[in-house]
Amino acid sequence: MIFSKQTVRDVSVQGKVVLVRADYNVPLTDDGEISDDLRIRASLETLQYLLQQNCKVVVISHLGRPGGQPNRKYTLLPVAKRLSDLLGVGIKFIDDCIGKKVHEAVQNLAPGQLLLLENVRFYPGEEENNYEFARELAEATGARYFVQDGFGVVHREHATTSAITHFIPSVAGLLLEKEITALSESTDGMKHPLVAILGGAKVSDKISVIKKFVKIADKILVGGAMANTFLAYRGVDMGASKIEDGQHQVLDEIYSAAVDKVGVDNVDDFIVLPVDLAVSTTPKAVRRKSVPLYAIDEHESAFDIGDATAAKFCNELEDAELVIWNGTLGFAENQTFAYGSAVLAKCITSKSKLTSIIGGGDTADFALKWCKKNNAKFSHISTGGGASLDFIAGRKLPGVEALLVSKK
Ligand code: 3PG
Repeated sequence: MIFSKQTVRDVSVQGKVVLVRADYNVPLTDDGEISDDLRIRASLETLQYLLQQNCKVVVISHLGRPGGQPNRKYTLLPVAKRLSDLLGVGIKFIDDCIGKKVHEAVQNLAPGQLLLLENVRFYPGEEENNYEFARELAEATGARYFVQDGFGVVHREHATTSAITHFIPSVAGLLLEKEITALSESTDGMKHPLVAILGGAKVSDKISVIKKFVKIADKILVGGAMANTFLAYRGVDMGASKIEDGQHQVLDEIYSAAVDKVGVDNVDDFIVLPVDLAVSTTPKAVRRKSVPLYAIDEHESAFDIGDATAAKFCNELEDAELVIWNGTLGFAENQTFAYGSAVLAKCITSKSKLTSIIGGGDTADFALKWCKKNNAKFSHISTGGGASLDFIAGRKLPGVEALLVSKK
């Protein structure tokens, strides 16, 4: 598929102030260290291109969900340091994203220099898609072009994905172009059988996507902490496992749509839940113990799909043509509970005709490390979680829609 938006290569940026929206929503350790810098590395190509064009490059991003107010826990300062290391040049950082300080910092920036601004979600206007906030960003930076390169956030209709495009001519960055092109190629004509593997923590984060997959997928395999909530809904006593409250109605809707599609007798073969779980009293466990669903002790929590489930999930992929995987199937930071995800990774990558798309920060991180260690390859590992799922599910991405259309 030809990418239909103008990119940074289609406009004359030479020597100009260019505002780049990146997605530096990176995972942090308890000590505030970046535990995975995939998204920072993925942003380099566009930034290097602009620096070579002698632009004054001003970069904005969000990190976490600080709720519209400053919060030191979510400062982009650690990102500034890592970005500088990766680029191999000093960069400037300002602890705000609008106002006089930013304006002065941009004025003082030399051509070919980069300035990272503080978290845009420190202002409520960002998530409210507020035009006044977007205008302030445009005015403070004085940018001549806006480059959207935060693929991971283009499914959000926020000030730095939508409103900003009303104030500055807006084009795509090279990462955004690469992601959309790769995802389009992989899903072109939507191959079937399509199996969606959904893990991670929260049902609520993925409700609309699960509903879409109920419509378009031929099978949905559910793992990770999300499976706990599904299993509890289906009446399984989950012991001390983490379960997301308040999801009953959503799960009613998901199951009712699934029953409409495949009939009540087939629903458990369509939304496939774990048949056993790896449990422990601590996520740091070094010994793996798989138990059937009825045998979860009240003091134990599920931290991974069980061994029988891993084998079952692999069997479910037997005839699949396309697999879309978002969310690890267990607490993969601990090797003991990375087992389920590793079995699936091996199963998927060993099928040469199976197209595989991996999305989401933790899944992409796991997949990249696993591939490196095992010398294997998925068809596409995306830097976006929700964004890649929304794209595949056929939803319009507001941050892409808003960009200038290609003249070619
Ligand atoms: C992500 O990590 O999926 C993106 O950065 C979007 O973050 P959000 O879910 O907090 O909007």
